[in-house]
Amino acid sequence: MINSEILKKKRLGGRLGDDEIFHLIEGLKNGKTDDLQITAFLTSACIIGLSPDETTALTFAMRDSGMKFNFRHLGKPVIDKHSTGGVGDKLSLLLVPIVSACGVAVPMISGRGLGHTGGTVDKLESIPGFDIRPDEKTIYRLMEENGCFMSAQNDFIAPADKKLYHIRDITGNVESTGLITASILSKKLVEDLDGLVIDMKTGSGAFMKSMAEAEELAKSMKTVAELCGVKISVLFTSMDQPLGSKIGNWLEIEESLDALKGNCPPDIREVTLALAAEMICLAGIKPDTESARKLAAETWDSGKALSQFHKMIESQGGSLEEGTKKYASHYEFEYKAPRSGIITSMDTTGIGIAGIILRAGRQNIDDEIDYGAGIIMEKKIGDEVSSGETLARFRASDKELFHRAKKRMDESIFYCQEKVDSPKLILRAMK
Ligand code: URA
Repeated sequence: MINSEILKKKRLGGRLGDDEIFHLIEGLKNGKTDDLQITAFLTSACIIGLSPDETTALTFAMRDSGMKFNFRHLGKPVIDKHSTGGVGDKLSLLLVPIVSACGVAVPMISGRGLGHTGGTVDKLESIPGFDIRPDEKTIYRLMEENGCFMSAQNDFIAPADKKLYHIRDITGNVESTGLITASILSKKLVEDLDGLVIDMKTGSGAFMKSMAEAEELAKSMKTVAELCGVKISVLFTSMDQPLGSKIGNWLEIEESLDALKGNCPPDIREVTLALAAEMICLAGIKPDTESARKLAAETWDSGKALSQFHKMIESQGGSLEEGTKKYASHYEFEYKAPRSGIITSMDTTGIGIAGIILRAGRQNIDDEIDYGAGIIMEKKIGDEVSSGETLARFRASDKELFHRAKKRMDESIFYCQEKVDSPKLILRAMK
């Protein structure tokens, strides 16, 4: 098979066979597919789309690019959660300790920031010493001792996703049902899961802006996961404004720690408990979401989840104290409301981009992230503000960036004079 022929067939609207997709992805391992060819494939996939069969073949080829785990010896249900991506979305950092402290094994393989969204791996990497690439032996040990681990894709876990993820990010080839399905599931299907909960973000800060697009992605993920015998439960949640108040890698670690200590913004609490309940139900630990939510809330409020969070961070080498010292010297800038009014809506993607301008995320593949940079939102949709009142605070290690980030924020927040309700957070579920 010749790569350029396969790529031409796809560009002209043809359907690729399983063998053609395997050939392209296999070529990443043996050096026979280069980055330009992958870029051409991803661009065609975004423009023309991938059929359900192509999506399945791509998911399997990416999953099989690395190893698979076997956690059966743990004698526990194995459940994970994945978000389709958002701004200020730090919920994995809360869910892993809460749900694993409830007796569920949670092997979490995550991604880096993609487009305007943040990634769990970048957040974890902001913790000095945290090993985001534990080796296989360490992963089995962590699962036995803690019932959880958090890791990036790497050279042995879904390495094809690591490659494609980077190229999609820097070539603007992110928003595609087939590519998102394959990216998420290729990582998750190596985890020997009994079940997977998807936090399907919709709204102005999500890749899937409308409910119709989000439903299409949910159906695509359900079809492929169920073909592999993995139960899947999808919760559609709002990404019409950032979750919680902090956006940025270390800032989100801080907010998660505070939340586990009991100082939790109401939106984070509501969505975290809803997702935790889905995970606990899929695990079969509780028969219904109400009793599962109660168990998750008790585990959180009793401090058990906080101890589990500390144990998880320390077992992977991280030091939260070092992080607090390391990022203390960042400059701060008060972003003031340019006019008076009630915040009616936000372009949450634009707010994510303001974060990237501050260097909390990458614009290019080689960009170094400033892990201490980001935005602290002081106001939410429905809040009334007066002109000149502080609406957010920016953090960066380079003051020169504040002006550009301010401009982007000015363009991303909209005001009116009438009362506005805050958007509903949990939109619907698909079992
Ligand atoms: N999360 C992923 O892992 N991949 C995507 O493509 C989007 C969100």
